[in-house]
Amino acid sequence: MYNLIRFLVLLVLLSAPAVAYSDSVQSTRVIDPNQHACTGGGGYPYREKYEYVLKELDLKKGDVVVDIGAGDGWWAEKMVKFVGSEGIIHASEIKQEQVDKMKEKFTDVPQIKPYLCPTDSTALKDNSCDMAFLSKTYHHLKGHIDYLSHLRKVIKPTGRLCIIEKHPSLGSGRGKGHTFSPGLLMQQADEAGWIPARYELITGTYHYIAIFVQRELFQPEQQQKKTRAG
Ligand SMILES: C[S@@+](CC[C@H](N)C(=O)[O-])C[C@H]1O[C@@H](n2cnc3c(N)ncnc32)[C@H](O)[C@@H]1O
Repeated sequence: MYNLIRFLVLLVLLSAPAVAYSDSVQSTRVIDPNQHACTGGGGYPYREKYEYVLKELDLKKGDVVVDIGAGDGWWAEKMVKFVGSEGIIHASEIKQEQVDKMKEKFTDVPQIKPYLCPTDSTALKDNSCDMAFLSKTYHHLKGHIDYLSHLRKVIKPTGRLCIIEKHPSLGSGRGKGHTFSPGLLMQQADEAGWIPARYELITGTYHYIAIFVQRELFQPEQQQKKTRAG
């Protein structure tokens, strides 16, 4: 009997969900001087780290994502199984050619919705998405703060913003111009009301991932005290 109880307690502990708050599990200790060297090949080294990126996104069934500058829909395709049949991935593009290609590619994937968007907006309704995902698109935008302010409306209060860009101080050669300073991004995000929950280098790529949440999640301290006091 005692052993059975111990077994059941162990079973409950093992099946409890892991804590999913945004604390990185990776140590930042430099063990090997080459550990940050770029190992990824081609123009999309960050795509090779998709498992890590998707883990960071932590998408759930039914989530609505807007993949801004979806390109060929590579990320949208990877996200589908996480959002499930009830989820939606709005694949926004400013190039009609890319939209047409995605529409053809995803005829059998109804959750992925490619569409032509204006350059300064997603053209989606307020409060309609759980995540805005911009992989190598942010540096293309004009009027960054206005765009981030627009996203604050489109993304739900508990939603998130994820930006992947190449760090301008790292690497050289091809793609040198297609970078964005993480410092400037933090400044612009702060101005638009986005608070960084995560900033990490995507090891082996010279790219970084930054995930933001809405400022309204953080109550003023006095209000917090009142809430705690009941
Ligand atoms: C370098 S590609 C990135 C493609 C894909 N997101 C990836 O990570 O592999 C950037 C894409 O952003 C699109 N783009 C540029 N400005 C945009 C805007 N304002 N809104 C939506 N898409 C935009 C471009 O047409 C291009 O397809």
